[in-house]
Amino acid sequence: MSFKLSDEQLMIQSMVREFSRKVVAATAAERDRTKEFPWDNFKQMGELGLMGMMVPTEYEGEGADAVSYVLALSEIAYSCASTSVVMSVQNSIVCESINNFGTEEQKQEFLVPLASGEIIGAFALTEPDAGSDPVSQTATAVRDGDHYILNGTKRFITSGKNCKAVIVTAKTDETAGHKGISAFLVAKETPGLIVGHAEDKMGLRASDTTDLIFENCRVPGSAILGKEGDGFKIAMSGLDSGRIGIAAQSLGVAQAAMDASVKYAKKRKQFGKPISMHQGIRWQIADMATQIEAARQLVMSAAAMKDRKENYTTQASMAKLFASEMVNKVTARAIQIHGGYGFTKDYPVERFYRDARVFTIYEGTSEIQRIVISNSILK
Ligand code: CAA
Repeated sequence: MSFKLSDEQLMIQSMVREFSRKVVAATAAERDRTKEFPWDNFKQMGELGLMGMMVPTEYEGEGADAVSYVLALSEIAYSCASTSVVMSVQNSIVCESINNFGTEEQKQEFLVPLASGEIIGAFALTEPDAGSDPVSQTATAVRDGDHYILNGTKRFITSGKNCKAVIVTAKTDETAGHKGISAFLVAKETPGLIVGHAEDKMGLRASDTTDLIFENCRVPGSAILGKEGDGFKIAMSGLDSGRIGIAAQSLGVAQAAMDASVKYAKKRKQFGKPISMHQGIRWQIADMATQIEAARQLVMSAAAMKDRKENYTTQASMAKLFASEMVNKVTARAIQIHGGYGFTKDYPVERFYRDARVFTIYEGTSEIQRIVISNSILK
């Protein structure tokens, strides 16, 4: 790797690698079958400081940089993508938005338990008819004295069932386009906040994805995150960070698929020798390794730009686009190398392939990333 990591970054990487391969990997396949939420992982990850890595230490975070965060996240994804998506949403979108836009009161009430891993957070932007185009959302927040009344349905919410705090966007002014969208930080137990349908998904099966329904959900004025009308920008800037996270997640799953393929190719014999000695397989491994390395450079570069406080919106989209497309190719090749065995649940590549499929979709589809990238070039 051409990036020179600091001693601290190397230490975090090796600590998370050891934890992930020992603890997280042990139950990943079983939880893929049972859809059981990995509470045990999060308890230990909270103790290791992985649930609010970039949050300042005064709010129980680790005060780590974005490079350390992507290293840690890809190590968790290496063993279990379901665990890593929850870690990603928690760190990148939820904690970061509260840290950047929250009041001191909101930080004490929500950021401290989130960062310490005591509770799980969710981010509710998408609606049944507003995915790629969140400005067309229809949830509303209507002022009622010193409160707001929230109404609407949010869809595909990661940790919708298991979270205790939700950042939700809603229109405070239906005539003002993106400037009419506000963000609210809502405690899960608030009356009128209902967990709806839980999706039965192709992958990431141990991470719950649900509707969140707001039915005359009354929240105090102090629940607003930032100011009225800031919601779209809060969501977009949270997604910039989130997209680096999904790219890091892609890296982890791709590396796991490649390592499994190398192990299998060295062991499996056909035509009198290990298939790793056949050029057709060697070249596939070479292409996989090159694709992973290219993605790694993009992910690390975007994270380093974030650490230098440069505008990294375009680089986050490039990293997300490239890495998420890459992991879909790499996991497909991993199955090809495993032949018929790759199509069975006896080998982990089948799970990697299913888990990776959503990476080009959530936190902005590949098509949305291309809009962001081309807009920055063709201004
Ligand atoms: N940071 C801060 N502000 C930003 C921004 C960013 N990255 N991107 C845009 N903005 C601002 C713009 O500056 C503009 O503000 P002004 O009018 O003041 O200049 C405003 O937002 C509107 O920008 P656009 O005109 O570019 O907005 P748009 O409506 O054309 O949409 C888009 C742009 C990039 C397509 C955006 O809608 C988008 O990203 N869509 C995809 C949504 C998405 O990623 N959803 C994922 C759901 S969450 C999820 O999957 C989480 C999970 O649980 C795993």
